[in-house]
Amino acid sequence: MELVFATNNQHKLQEIQALLDSKITLLSLKDIRCEDDIPETGETLEANARQKSEYVYKKFDVNCFADDTGLEIEALNGEPGVYSARYAGTDNDAEANMAKVLQCLDGVANRKARFRTVISLIIDGKEFQFVGVVQGTILKNKQGNEGFGYDPIFRPEGYEQSFAEMDIQLKNEISHRGRAIKKLIDFLREQYA
Ligand code: IMP
Repeated sequence: MELVFATNNQHKLQEIQALLDSKITLLSLKDIRCEDDIPETGETLEANARQKSEYVYKKFDVNCFADDTGLEIEALNGEPGVYSARYAGTDNDAEANMAKVLQCLDGVANRKARFRTVISLIIDGKEFQFVGVVQGTILKNKQGNEGFGYDPIFRPEGYEQSFAEMDIQLKNEISHRGRAIKKLIDFLREQYA
């Protein structure tokens, strides 16, 4: 079976292909010649993930899945959440986004936060969602150089290092995305093995 992952992120594609068995061939947006700027205008991670997978399913008539991730900070009522990529205004300016979070939490004792990933899978027109969560805390200063996004200021529960101080294997094992992907893969194995 062919399955499109609605992403242009090669890293995410390779990560998932390595975990799937050979009965499922993973295709990228590039493989189906989709160069569209897929809309992400939802107000929740669930809505955004569904918007992306539905867009690809309807336009290209292929089974597919899409993901959406947010950092949810308790003391900021779940912000930046669905706006994580553009919290400080510009798309994907990780330095500015982290600076804004650190400023908003200046002097705040409650630094609890979590990353949440929602995957929306559409098979033959039917949608299934898979959620992965990792709890943790927001550090006072950036630590580490690995990873991306908010990794230098996020320390997962039960660990001494920030995500940006971990090697990629460890991060993938315990991360929000890793957990959501594992649920997706278990589902695909059960249904299509
Ligand atoms: P996306 O839905 O995977 O594109 O994620 C949206 C935004 O959340 C990204 O632009 C990053 O700012 C942040 N983000 C997602 N995953 C991670 C992660 O694993 N570590 C740090 N930040 C992340």
